[in-house]
Amino acid sequence: MAITAKSGPTVLLTGASGVVGQALLEQLGDCAVVCLTHRKPVCAHQVTTVRGDLTLPYFGLDPAAYGDLADRVDVVVHCAAVTGFGVDSNRTNDLNIRGTENVLAFARRAQAPLQHVSTAFVTRHNLARNGYGSARPEVYLGSKRLAEQAIANSGVAANIIRPSVVIGDSVTGRIAQFQGLHAIAGALLKDALPMLPLQPGTRIDFVPQDLVARVIASLVRAGKTGGEYWVTGGNAAPTAARTIELAMTLGASLGLELGMPRFVSHDMVDRLIRPVFIDALPKAQQRRFDDMLAMTALFDTAEPFTSTYHHVPGVAPLTTEDIEDAFTASMRHYARAKGLTRLSEAAA
Ligand SMILES: NC(=O)c1ccc[n+]([C@@H]2O[C@H](COP(=O)([O-])OP(=O)(O)OC[C@H]3O[C@@H](n4cnc5c(N)ncnc54)[C@H](OP(=O)(O)O)[C@@H]3O)[C@@H](O)[C@H]2O)c1
Repeated sequence: MAITAKSGPTVLLTGASGVVGQALLEQLGDCAVVCLTHRKPVCAHQVTTVRGDLTLPYFGLDPAAYGDLADRVDVVVHCAAVTGFGVDSNRTNDLNIRGTENVLAFARRAQAPLQHVSTAFVTRHNLARNGYGSARPEVYLGSKRLAEQAIANSGVAANIIRPSVVIGDSVTGRIAQFQGLHAIAGALLKDALPMLPLQPGTRIDFVPQDLVARVIASLVRAGKTGGEYWVTGGNAAPTAARTIELAMTLGASLGLELGMPRFVSHDMVDRLIRPVFIDALPKAQQRRFDDMLAMTALFDTAEPFTSTYHHVPGVAPLTTEDIEDAFTASMRHYARAKGLTRLSEAAA
């Protein structure tokens, strides 16, 4: 497909069909974007797509096509990853480590800087507690740590971008795929969450997808590398108690009658609750319960995340109110998508 001339650089974007990739496409209108797609097609104005597999040499492309692509690309943005906690370690490592090594080889060949999307939770691998059932965050976090190391050892000019939990667009709540936090807040909105293994004062760190996208897009244009950018709420992140209050307020505005969940310690769940109840639950509920435990365990600390994204040119810091409004927008979008309302849309 022919592309009209763009003032910005030519960008190779991996993971374009995913949560971060979709949000980023909206911010790269002035760039010639080539999306390295895998299974899902990417529908966006004025982008070209190349179908490939990052786990394969030359991304599975014909070597000549790979060389042509490298000749064209000015900047690589690497968003593709296995992000689920339930995916087996071979698949996770294959894409997150080997795939990143293949992306590095491409960036070297193209002599292009790399914008690599990692996760703020690389610093919380010690909280992963060897996982719960099939939910194994330590596998995902280990793979993301090794990918960062591969970049550090590669000599390729790069920035590392570390978001916390990514939620939907700050205004519409729209997101390519609902995330673990949606599932937890969704259980609350379904009145199916009697307890939460969190301390009420713990900060629940999440950021809207458009903030993450703005940071990456700005780095693409700035052309500066060698930085690490923490895209997190940090001290502005709301507490668990406040996050629950926001979900309850939204629930009330949708006409839902909800019970307040009880905050319990992770230790209590690990020692007393999970061993007694887990086997009695149907398999799907076991998985959901374990996913919730695995995710909340990563917040089981009084230490907020570092936050440095506001050092990126043109990106203003979000206030607690901005983050809370983004949460409400995300959860309203989720509730509507799942039909969780007793009031008409107009009344809601
Ligand atoms: N979402 C979050 O809350 C969050 C938080 C912090 C950090 N991050 C990081 O942000 C980045 C983007 O995450 P995300 O949530 O946007 O991911 P996502 O929604 O799960 O999307 C993953 C992307 O990877 C692609 N992909 C999978 N296997 C591939 C392969 N073999 N070759 C090429 N592409 C492949 C997928 O394409 P197909 O679907 O077509 O296979 C999809 O576009 C990741 O590095 C993640 O670790 C995410």
